[in-house]
Amino acid sequence: MTAEARLRTPSSLTLGLSNLGRSTTVGSVEERGAIDFAELTLASGHTYVDTSSNYAGGRSEAVLGAAATRLGPTRSADIITKVDVDPVTGRFDRDRVWRSFDESRARLGIDTIPLLHLHDPDMLSMSEALGPGGAVQGLVELRDSGAVGAIGVAGGPIPMMSAYVSSGVFDAVLCHNRFTLVDQSATALFEDARRRGMVVFNAAPFGAGLLAAGPRQDARYAYLPASAELLTWTRALELLCREHDLSLPAVALAFSLQSSLIDSTVVGISSPRRLDELDELQRQTVPSELWAKIEQLGPAPTPIVDPPAR
Ligand SMILES: NC(=O)c1ccc[n+]([C@@H]2O[C@H](COP(=O)([O-])OP(=O)(O)OC[C@H]3O[C@@H](n4cnc5c(N)ncnc54)[C@H](OP(=O)(O)O)[C@@H]3O)[C@@H](O)[C@H]2O)c1
Repeated sequence: MTAEARLRTPSSLTLGLSNLGRSTTVGSVEERGAIDFAELTLASGHTYVDTSSNYAGGRSEAVLGAAATRLGPTRSADIITKVDVDPVTGRFDRDRVWRSFDESRARLGIDTIPLLHLHDPDMLSMSEALGPGGAVQGLVELRDSGAVGAIGVAGGPIPMMSAYVSSGVFDAVLCHNRFTLVDQSATALFEDARRRGMVVFNAAPFGAGLLAAGPRQDARYAYLPASAELLTWTRALELLCREHDLSLPAVALAFSLQSSLIDSTVVGISSPRRLDELDELQRQTVPSELWAKIEQLGPAPTPIVDPPAR
């Protein structure tokens, strides 16, 4: 069966909920607000929301589960989640994958997951992950059992991600911060995934901050402080966007949305206001003239230095 057949075609945006439930406690007013917001994301008309077993220490899934239960069958979005390393023992093998999945099912209150990713397996060598009793075996077993529709790999470093994609085992790939206006190092990875018929998710089109909030002194790109050189480059980029009456985040989002390599762009969303803004940003059109001028800026000084695959 092809990846496309295993997974409902995603809408161009997937809502990323890594911050959902962060610093809320069970039964608090803040938690009730977070559940209301999660309901909005599940009813927003997008195909998927993206979470993980370890986002906010499991609170992202717990809040989503409460919202999904409240909405019942009326929700439009399905929940994609990820299996994670055991936070106490550091174990990330076949048995841990099954346990992580069971923990997610309990928190989400649902039996089947349309897409389950192997999340940030940076600590594993490829032979550990792909060998007998390894994490990938656990994912394949879950897919074979029907509890999971499709399996994917989600992470950052390109050499590691390329090795997982070329294993031929996965239906989907999610890579973050590496296909943006600043850094396009995921291009060959996504091309390979495309050739293999995999579903491609591009996460963090704003570089997790810089390309949304702009080149402020304290700006970060890919969870790292932006260098003075990167801030200067981004100021020049922002100026070009303004000359065309477009905001930096509108152009940053369009960069991902217009790529034929990407099925869905995963944007981090933390409030109803951001959800409305996202609708507005998505409607903006970037003229080809602006893309040409951005090209002329030359490559951005990206802070990402990926290690080799293990
Ligand atoms: N390994 C993995 O699997 C992996 C890694 C990274 C990301 N992801 C997925 O991808 C999703 C997106 O990643 P991300 O959230 O790190 O990066 P992102 O989508 O590039 O950026 C989100 C950030 O941009 C800010 N922002 C959004 N719109 C803005 C606006 N109009 N003005 C100013 N700031 C704005 C948000 O701030 P506010 O908080 O103020 O709204 C948030 O901090 C995650 O939630 C997760 O689901 C997965």
